Amino acid sequence: MDLIGFCIALGVCLLLKSLGHLPNVTTRVVDYNERIPFLRQLNTTSQTDIFIGMHGAGLTHLLFLPDWAAIFEIYNCGDPGCYSDLARLRGVKYFTWPEEKIHLIRSDEEGKHPQSGEKHLKFANYHVDPIEFREQVKSMVDHVRAHPKFINSRRAQRRKEAEMEAEKQKKEL
Ligand SMILES: *[C@@H]1O[C@H](CO)[C@@H](O)[C@H](O)[C@H]1NC(C)=O
Ligand SMILES: *[C@@H]1O[C@H](CO)[C@@H](O)[C@H](O)[C@H]1NC(C)=O
Repeated sequence: MDLIGFCIALGVCLLLKSLGHLPNVTTRVVDYNERIPFLRQLNTTSQTDIFIGMHGAGLTHLLFLPDWAAIFEIYNCGDPGCYSDLARLRGVKYFTWPEEKIHLIRSDEEGKHPQSGEKHLKFANYHVDPIEFREQVKSMVDHVRAHPKFINSRRAQRRKEAEMEAEKQKKEL
């Protein structure tokens, strides 16, 4: 079990490294497992502008993202409608790997359903091209930065910070 966690984390860390330094972007890896209280998960998600993951139930967290957020389903494992529909219903922007660049995703072995043993795209490990990954994330960053609600929220935040600073200085006088 630990080994699986390690392998997953290693892949995620490699992708994270491929992002390099994106100005004013903070990246974070989360593993929303049963040991992390649900309220804490929601707290984290609600403060996230860009949410990235493979196809899987974890992506339902998109329901709790801010209005300006974007979600990246790195690969939909042959199930294109599920999270793109949910994102549309929630009103957050959906990104996925472009169909014309699908050759840049590959798996080591054919996925097999754990019960039926039949061929199944959802049960394989995938490697994705880090350069294309970075390009996708960069266009997501641009999307969020241009979103009017994001711009307004940043403005409100700056105003609040300035007020708090002014308040602090008044107290120091
Ligand atoms: C990053 O943040 C700084 C300080 O708020 C700002 O001056 C700069 O323009 C930002 N850069 C980008 C690419 O958003
Ligand atoms: C939510 O996260 C912020 C930090 O981003 C923290 O200060 C706050 O205490 C958290 N709230 C809860 C209910 O966990």
